[in-house]
Amino acid sequence: MDKLKKCQCEDMSEEEKIAIIEEFIDEYKNKEGSLIQVLHIAQTIYGYLPINIQKLIADGLDKPLSEVSGVVSFYSFFSTTPRGKYTIRVCLGTACYVRGGKKILDKLQEILGIGVGETTEDQKFTLEVMRCIGACGLAPAISINDTVYKQVNPDKLSEILEKY
Ligand code: FES
Repeated sequence: MDKLKKCQCEDMSEEEKIAIIEEFIDEYKNKEGSLIQVLHIAQTIYGYLPINIQKLIADGLDKPLSEVSGVVSFYSFFSTTPRGKYTIRVCLGTACYVRGGKKILDKLQEILGIGVGETTEDQKFTLEVMRCIGACGLAPAISINDTVYKQVNPDKLSEILEKY
């Protein structure tokens, strides 16, 4: 766990990140379900899973690259492109959708100049949509990393983003 905490350091060099991923590959190599676990860890450390990291994992776990790439593309929480420092998720569950979730999404796309699944050029924000985040009574809701914003007014979005 200490290793993972250390891995969240933004100043870590590429070589250091790869060395830590290799350590985890060694540790998980012969364990059941190791691929998904190593991919999770690698994404946490590296930020995303480009093809060179997928290859490293495939070689380390002795699996074909096609299997690793297949898993990465199957699960939406794995990303093959760099993600922003902050991930904004707009809830499009029923309650939020009915109470204006789509307007919030439109407004965010306008403010940030990106579409769903994209990241701003300065690598600050990634925009995603999701289903119910458990705040239906106070819909519409969005989350930015671990913080949930409820009863969001599209006109207040700039104010919220300024905090980041
Ligand atoms: S539908 Fe959005 S929080 Fe439940």
